[in-house]
Amino acid sequence: MRKDGSPATAAGTAASKLFSYFETRPLVATLLALTLVLLLWNLPPYYQNLLSTTTATNLPCSASAAPSSLSLDTSLPSTTPAKVAALKYTTSTTAQRSDPNKRIFQAYGNAAALFVLMGAYRGGPATFAVVGLASKPLHVFGKPWYKCEWVSNNGTSTRAKAYKMLPDWGYGRVYTVVVVNCTFSDNPNADNSGGKLNLYAYYGLSQRKYEKFPALEERPGSYNESKYHPPYDYEYLYCGSSLYGNLSADRIREWMAYHAWFFGPKSHFVFHDAGGVSPAVRAALEPWVRAGRATVQDIRDQAQFDGYYYNQFLVVNDCLHRHRHAANWTFFFDVDEYIYLPDGSSLESVLTEFGNYTQFTIEQNPMSSVLCLNDSSQDYSREWGFEKLLFRDSRTGIRRDRKYAIQAKNAFATGVHMSENVVGGALHKTEDKIRYYHYHNSITVPGELCRELLPASARRNVTWYDKRPFVYDDSMKRLAPVVKEFERGAIGNVDTAQWSS
Ligand SMILES: *[C@@H]1O[C@H](CO)[C@@H](O)[C@H](O)[C@H]1NC(C)=O
Ligand SMILES: *[C@@H]1O[C@H](CO)[C@@H](O)[C@H](O)[C@H]1NC(C)=O
Ligand SMILES: *[C@@H]1O[C@H](CO)[C@@H](O)[C@H](O)[C@H]1NC(C)=O
Ligand SMILES: *[C@@H]1O[C@H](CO)[C@@H](O)[C@H](O)[C@H]1NC(C)=O
Ligand SMILES: *[C@@H]1O[C@H](CO)[C@@H](O)[C@H](O)[C@H]1NC(C)=O
Ligand SMILES: *[C@@H]1O[C@H](CO)[C@@H](O)[C@H](O)[C@H]1NC(C)=O
Ligand SMILES: *[C@@H]1O[C@H](CO)[C@@H](O)[C@H](O)[C@H]1NC(C)=O
Ligand SMILES: *[C@@H]1O[C@H](CO)[C@@H](O)[C@H](O)[C@H]1NC(C)=O
Repeated sequence: MRKDGSPATAAGTAASKLFSYFETRPLVATLLALTLVLLLWNLPPYYQNLLSTTTATNLPCSASAAPSSLSLDTSLPSTTPAKVAALKYTTSTTAQRSDPNKRIFQAYGNAAALFVLMGAYRGGPATFAVVGLASKPLHVFGKPWYKCEWVSNNGTSTRAKAYKMLPDWGYGRVYTVVVVNCTFSDNPNADNSGGKLNLYAYYGLSQRKYEKFPALEERPGSYNESKYHPPYDYEYLYCGSSLYGNLSADRIREWMAYHAWFFGPKSHFVFHDAGGVSPAVRAALEPWVRAGRATVQDIRDQAQFDGYYYNQFLVVNDCLHRHRHAANWTFFFDVDEYIYLPDGSSLESVLTEFGNYTQFTIEQNPMSSVLCLNDSSQDYSREWGFEKLLFRDSRTGIRRDRKYAIQAKNAFATGVHMSENVVGGALHKTEDKIRYYHYHNSITVPGELCRELLPASARRNVTWYDKRPFVYDDSMKRLAPVVKEFERGAIGNVDTAQWSS
């Protein structure tokens, strides 16, 4: 019977005598168990298979006597932190009885989970990614680690080494984002009998204290090798970060129409609703969702976990891995940003030129979200945002945020402004080929955007506003007619009255 939570000791029929002896010598036992575990961990997969098959059922048996002085949970299934606390309590009270100066540290509750699973995805024939959150102090001050196991429906199981990435380093709050990469020596579901991927999440260096949970399940026959090679379903995929706040349905409608046009029919858009998709915004996106061009993921429950800005790092990593083999290129930028090709080439030719790089970053054209021309020939209330916001901050040499696109198949984790866990190079000198117009602060303005009207001369002159120089730039405006025409063709006439309040 398996008495120990740690996978390796369970194998030791030969070692069982040793263990009963060591129960009275906890420190030595721990050290020895660790050595044994390390030893077994390094066994060739054949032995690991053998060992893990013997423990295929994951219900640890708690028949053995409670540990006398071990502070670590060895006999109980360590599935909930509460049980760990309960065990600590027993341990300490026992100790107190023997030593009146022995103080108790009694823990109540659980402030941050060891792991919060958002998604787990197959990333290729032998590799998986598990995306989630974990207590940040635990990762800053401790050494939590992971192990992966595939339990096949055919009755066998294999283990894989796992490595973790913390793609939001420095930005996490109570929680930090963790991407666990599980890579097997070959496809653990090669016979397509189906099975599940279990993640073992360890609290610290100890092999004994961990949580085990199923991260992903593959139904029999569902593995399809060809999904992990080009050609992919899409040329371009948009991974949006968390949408929150009072978003303007008009702006979202314009953004969607523009980019559906810009990226073309072989593209798809994934939005993440962290509370920003009001009924009006939903109505603006709905025709595109129905047309199969967009997906809206409801991530409102992320609010329970205090991470960086609506958990945006979590969301982009989930999106990266969920759609890793969905498109040639995956773009990460915001809904107040519009990708633009300044030199008139096609997107395809630009990206073919960038094709030897895993990722490239994109420079912004910062636009005023306040300034418009005082032009009585225009009815601004009927114009789109990018049709009337025509003043660009002309300062150069200022460090500004960049956005980026990536060949997701080469990325293992991602950030908001670029990815640092990739194979292959990054290209930054792209400003002549591709840029984005950034209408900062325009997306949550409820009424009219044009709040400062400039005289016609501002078309030719630099205008200083808020101590910043602005120049006239109507490149986006010139695209408006074709985008509107495209929108009508794609989803018909849009009735904005239904969503303006
Ligand atoms: C079970 O599946 C694995 C992976 O597909 C395969 O390597 C193994 O041979 C299978 N075992 C049996 C008993 O079918
Ligand atoms: C596997 O995927 C490819 C491409 O997505 C598809 O054409 C093919 O029909 C799929 N095969 C099976 C057996 O589902
Ligand atoms: C969102 O906008 C509505 C109506 O414009 C307003 O009543 C509400 O207070 C706003 N909420 C926030 C969080 O700004
Ligand atoms: C996408 O990748 C496929 C296969 O590598 C290639 O044939 C195609 O031209 C690419 N499309 C774009 C738009 O880059
Ligand atoms: C990409 O790399 C290959 C091999 O080094 C080279 O032949 C090709 O010209 C490169 N493509 C571009 C667009 O630079
Ligand atoms: C806009 O121009 C008209 C004349 O063309 C002028 O009467 C009006 O005061 C101007 N408005 C602003 C805000 O400059
Ligand atoms: C995991 O990492 C390996 C390289 O270390 C990489 O080849 C593989 O693609 C990664 N898998 C995922 C799902 O990111
Ligand atoms: C442009 O600005 C200069 C000085 O800032 C001014 O002298 C000139 O009259 C302006 N031109 C127009 C057309 O307003």
